Amino acid sequence: MYRTRTCGNLRLADEGLVVTLAGWVQKTRKMGGMTFVDLRDRYGITQLVFNQEVDAALCEQANKLGREYVIQVTGTVRERSSKNPHLATGDIELIVSKLVVLNTAVTPPFTIEDETDGGDDLRMKYRYLDLRRSCVRKNLELRHKMAFEVRSYLDKQGFLEVETPVLIKSTPEGARDFVVPSRMNPGQFYALPQSPQTFKQLLMVSGFDRYFQIVKCFRDEDLRADRQPEFTQIDCEMSFVEQEDVIQTFEGMAKHLFKTIRGIEIKEPFLRMTWQDAMKYYGSDKPDLRFGMKFVELMDIMKGYGFSVFDDAAYIGGICAEGAASYTRKQLDALTEFVKRPQVGAKGMVYARVEDNGNVKSSVDKFYSQEVLQQMKEAFNAKPGDLILILSGDDAMKTRKQLCELRLHVAEQLGLRDKNKFACLWVVDFPLFEWSEEDQRFYAMHHPFTSPKPEDIPLLDTDPGAVRANAYDMVINGVEVGGGSIRIHDSQLQDKMFKLLGFTEERAQEQFGFLMNAFKYGAPPHGGLAYGLDRWVSLFAGLDSIRDCIAFPKNNSGRDVMIDAPSAIDDTQLDELCLKVDVKE
Ligand code: AMO
Repeated sequence: MYRTRTCGNLRLADEGLVVTLAGWVQKTRKMGGMTFVDLRDRYGITQLVFNQEVDAALCEQANKLGREYVIQVTGTVRERSSKNPHLATGDIELIVSKLVVLNTAVTPPFTIEDETDGGDDLRMKYRYLDLRRSCVRKNLELRHKMAFEVRSYLDKQGFLEVETPVLIKSTPEGARDFVVPSRMNPGQFYALPQSPQTFKQLLMVSGFDRYFQIVKCFRDEDLRADRQPEFTQIDCEMSFVEQEDVIQTFEGMAKHLFKTIRGIEIKEPFLRMTWQDAMKYYGSDKPDLRFGMKFVELMDIMKGYGFSVFDDAAYIGGICAEGAASYTRKQLDALTEFVKRPQVGAKGMVYARVEDNGNVKSSVDKFYSQEVLQQMKEAFNAKPGDLILILSGDDAMKTRKQLCELRLHVAEQLGLRDKNKFACLWVVDFPLFEWSEEDQRFYAMHHPFTSPKPEDIPLLDTDPGAVRANAYDMVINGVEVGGGSIRIHDSQLQDKMFKLLGFTEERAQEQFGFLMNAFKYGAPPHGGLAYGLDRWVSLFAGLDSIRDCIAFPKNNSGRDVMIDAPSAIDDTQLDELCLKVDVKE
C-alpha cells in the first residue's frame, strides 16, 4: 500500500498512530536541528517533522527534498506544540521514521499555494500544476458534487440520461458553429452542437418523455467572463407539459442544489418578471435583484424647462442610491467618466443629492426649481442622504442599457453585490423575434423551435415583432443560469416560423427537414430547459469567471495555451480532407 491515510484526515484523536502518507512536497523549512515539510495531496496538507538528533541520515535526506517532489513517508502522529488553526490537520504533525522519494520534480514555474506568484497566463500554461492548488481544486470538487446532485434529483423525477451526437449538422441560426471536416465525405463538414436542441426534441417524438444530459456544447462567439467556447449544459426536455410544469420542475432542482450544496433553504416560488418589465425597470433581461435601484422614468417631470439635453431626449430615467449622497465631487466625476466610456456609451450624467433638510441639490439646478426637484425626489421616494443619478438619450432601449451598467457599477461600489446573497427569478414572456436592423430581418430570440404564446399566434401575420414566446430564463444575481421554452410541436406552425425567419421552403427542408418530418409522426406537446453548469458552479463558488471551475479552460482568445490549440495541421492532413488554407493578412 502506498498510503494508509491521506494528508487531510489526521486529527488529534489519531495521536500515536503509525501511518504512511504519500504526496507532494509543498514547502520545506529548516529550523535548527529540525526540518519541517508540508506534504500535500488532494485532501490537504500534513506537517512532517525530521529531527537531526534522532536520525541524522533521515534528516539529511529530507533536507535534499525539492519543491513538488513526490514522496512516501511513514511515521507517528503527534500533537503539535504550535498549532495551526488554518489547517484541518493543524493540531498534529507526523514524526517521520521512513522516507522514500517516489519521484523528483524540476522547480515549478510558480509557487503552488493558494497565494501564488504565478500570473494568469503562466498558470494556464501549466494548468496541471495550477490544479494542485487547493483553491482551484475545490472548484472542481464542487462541480463534481453539483453534477452528482443534478443526476440524483433528475433520476428521482424520472428523467433518463441519453447521449446525443457530437458530430452534427451546421445550422445558420444562433451563434457561429465550430465545424469539423469529414475525410470520408470530401468537401463536407460536421458541426459541433451549440446545444442538443433538435435531438432532445426528436427524443420526445420517440416517446422518451423526460430526457436529460450533462453535455458539452460549443459556440464560436466572443468570449466573456461567463462564456467559454465549450461549456456544459444540464440539458432537459419533457413531454406533455406546459410552461408551468417545466418551471416548477427546474425551480425544484434549483432549490435542491441550494439545499444540498450551499445548505440554503431558498424561498419558493421564485419571483417572476416579464421581459418587458425587466427591460423597463432594470435595462436588462437578467436583472440583479440582490438590491433595489429600480429605474424611475422622468420624462413627465423633467422635460420642458430649457435643459436641452433632457428636452430633446426620448428617454430620461434614473436610479436612487440609498445613502450615497456622501459621494464626493471626485467620485461623481468618476461615475460620469464611467458612463461616457465607449463600452457604456452615454453622453453624460446628471446627479442630485438629497440633503439632510430634504432639499435637493443637483448638477442642473440652474434649469430646475426646487419644486420640480422635489417632484423628482418623490418619484424616487428618495430620503435625505440619498443620491439620484440620471441618464437620458434619444433611444430608450440604449439608454436603459446604459443605466443598467451604471446601476451595477454603483451597486458594486456600495458593496451590494454580496456573493453570499442570492436573488433568484424567472424572466418570462420574452419576445419571439428580435429585429436586426443590420440584416433587415427577424431572428428567433431564443431559437426557431420556441412556441409563441397561443393568444399571440394571430399576431404572427400582422405584427410578428409583438409576439410573445412561451420562453423563460432563470436568473440568479444578474446571471442567466438557464433558459428554455415550450416548443412548437405542430409542423405547420413550425413551417410558418421558418418562413418568418426568412427561410425558403427548400432551405428549411434542407436544414430542418428531419425535424419537420418527425413532427408528422405524432409529436407530443413538449418543452424544456438547459441550465449552464459552469455558471451554476461559479455562482456557488463565488467566482468572477466560469474559467475557474473548468479543469482545462480556454483563454479570452479561445486558445488552450497549455496544449497550444488551435494549431495548424500538416499538408498531408489537409490533402486528405481536400482542404486548402488561405489566411488573409
Ligand atoms: P441557451 O442558449 O439559453 O439555450 O443556453 C442555455 C444555458 O447555457 C448557458 N450558456 C453558456 N455557458 C457558458 N458559456 C457559454 N458560451 C454559454 N452559452 C450558454 C447559459 C444558458 O442559460 N437549447 C436551448 C435550451 C432549451 O431551450 O432547452 C439553449 O441552448 O446558462
